[in-house]
Amino acid sequence: MAMDPQQKKVALRAINYGLYVLTAADGDDVGAAGVNWLTQASFEPPLVVAAVKDDSGTAAIINRTGAFAVNVLGEDQLDIGKAFFRSTTVEGDRVNGYRFEPGPDTGAPLLVDLPYWFEVRVTDTVAKGDHTIFVGEVVNAGVRDDSVTPMLLRSTGMNYGG
Ligand SMILES: Cc1cc2nc3c(=O)[nH]c(=O)nc-3n(C[C@H](O)[C@H](O)[C@H](O)COP(=O)(O)O)c2cc1C
Repeated sequence: MAMDPQQKKVALRAINYGLYVLTAADGDDVGAAGVNWLTQASFEPPLVVAAVKDDSGTAAIINRTGAFAVNVLGEDQLDIGKAFFRSTTVEGDRVNGYRFEPGPDTGAPLLVDLPYWFEVRVTDTVAKGDHTIFVGEVVNAGVRDDSVTPMLLRSTGMNYGG
């Protein structure tokens, strides 16, 4: 039976997501993107999977360095998240206007205003569709404020998927 594109869109948009700022750095070349296509995929070793747009600056940096960081947005940080749906600019210690420090293991930017972070070393790359799928091992992680509830994409009214 032929797939109905509208049903496909609605069914795929029923997947629940969070919202994150995924970052990478190769020296002064920095990429930071608001992403929702991200999940944990193994306990031991601790693996995560992220899908990053093929033609993005961030994917190019990850392809070179084999590393990235994930910064988890709090439920009240949509204003910060929105700053990362556009191309990346760095001024001093700020990326897209928000203060960061380099991750201890990967150098990827860690946004100091966000409550949770982890650094990832890429183990496998799947380059098939319009996003590159990076599988990687979590090599470091930190909690700045464990009282913060992470953001859910659905609560923003935005969609990325379908
Ligand atoms: C709600 C929303 C979710 C997004 N999720 C992703 C994602 O999972 N992966 C991705 O590569 N881009 C995603 N994007 C697009 C990136 O945020 C955007 O392409 C990127 O920040 C632009 O930077 P660039 O210069 O690296 O292309 C999403 C955008 C929006 C509005």
